[in-house]
Amino acid sequence: MSGEGITKLIRSHLAAFGGYVPSKSPELLAERVKMPLNGITKLDANENLYGCSPKVNEALGGYPYFNIYPDANQTEMRRLLEGYTGVSAEHIVVGSGSDQLIDLIIRLFVGPGDEVINCVPTFDIFRVSTLLCNGKLVEVPRDEDYRVDVKAVKKAITKKTKMIMLANPNNPTGTPTPREDVLELIETGVPVLADEAYVEFSGETVTPLVPKYENLLVLRTFSKWAGLAGLRVGYGIMHPKVAGYLQSIKMPYNVNIAARVAVRESLKDIDYLMEKVKAIVAERERLFDELTKLDWVKPFPSKANFIFCHVLNGKAAQIQQALEERGILIRYFDLPMLQNSLRISVGRPEHTDAVIKALKEVGGD
Ligand SMILES: Cc1ncc(COP(=O)(O)O)c(C=O)c1O
Repeated sequence: MSGEGITKLIRSHLAAFGGYVPSKSPELLAERVKMPLNGITKLDANENLYGCSPKVNEALGGYPYFNIYPDANQTEMRRLLEGYTGVSAEHIVVGSGSDQLIDLIIRLFVGPGDEVINCVPTFDIFRVSTLLCNGKLVEVPRDEDYRVDVKAVKKAITKKTKMIMLANPNNPTGTPTPREDVLELIETGVPVLADEAYVEFSGETVTPLVPKYENLLVLRTFSKWAGLAGLRVGYGIMHPKVAGYLQSIKMPYNVNIAARVAVRESLKDIDYLMEKVKAIVAERERLFDELTKLDWVKPFPSKANFIFCHVLNGKAAQIQQALEERGILIRYFDLPMLQNSLRISVGRPEHTDAVIKALKEVGGD
C-alpha cells in the first residue's frame, strides 16, 4: 500500500505540517560519541543542571499510590500554587508542562482563519499550536535587539485577532518586555498570553494584574527553576471564567501523580531551589562576560537561563556540530531573524568552563 489513500484523509492544513524541532537525546549522543552519559554537557534545552529538589527524589521513591488516578480537579496543586503565586486557586489551571496549556488556550480561542499575533522570533510552540488549529499567524518582527515592537503589534490587530503571544523573557533571545509595554498590549482588550516560563530568573511578572484584566493569561512552569522538565508540569493564571473553560476542555487526568508529588515537595523546598536559581543567574552573567571576550560572537543580554548569540565569523551549524563531537549540546539557528546564531543554556560553573573552552578550540576561523 502506497499510503496515498490515508494521506488524502488527513486534514488538509496538516498534510505538509512542519512540527516543533525538539532538543537532542543525551543518551543517543553519548552512544554516538562513545562517552558515558554523565560526560555529556546538555546546554540545548534550558533545563536546570542542578536537578530537582532532593525532597522530590525521596518522596517519589516511597510513594504508595501510583495505582490511583490523580485528582482531575487539581485541588491540592492549585491550593499550593495559590501560596506561591499570591493569586487565588480559582485563577489557576495546571498542565502537563506549560506547552500543554499553550495548546489548550489556543484551542479554546482560535478557530480556522482566526488571527494570532506572534512577536517573532519567538518560542516555536506558539506557531505550532496556532497552525494545528488552522489559525492564521500574524508575525510582527521584533527590533534588531529583539525587543517587542508594541506600536506594530497594536497596528496588526484586526477584528479577527484572537490572541497576542508574548514570551517574557523571550525564547530564544532572552529579551525581557518591560511591564509598561505588556500593560499597553493588555489594554487593547485582545487576550494576551504572557508566557513567563523564566520568571524566576527574570524577577518580573504581570501576575498581580490577572484579577484586574480578564484578557490576561499568564503561564509558568516547574521545568526551569524547579528542575522538573522531565516530569512535565506547568500552570496558567487567568480569570476564573477562562480557567473554568480550560478545566472543562482538558483531559481529566492531564497532570500525573508523580508531577503532583513533585510540585508539593518543590514548594516545601523553595529556599533550596531559589539558592540554585541565584547561582544560575550569577553564572548567566559570567557566561555572558566570557562570550563577550570571544571576538567572533555577539551575545545578547538575557533575563532567562540561557544566552543567545550571533556568530560573526564562522558558521553556527559547524560550531554546534563540533561541540557535539566533544559531548556538548547547544542549539543553533539559521532562520529568518535568527541567522547564524547559537543559544547556550546556563548550567553550573563547570559547564560554563567546558563550553567556553570548546568554543575557543573550534571557533573564530
Ligand atoms: C517560552 C517558553 N514557554 C514554554 C516552554 C515550555 O515549558 P514546559 O516544559 O513547561 O512545557 C518553554 C520551554 O523551553 C519556553 O521556552
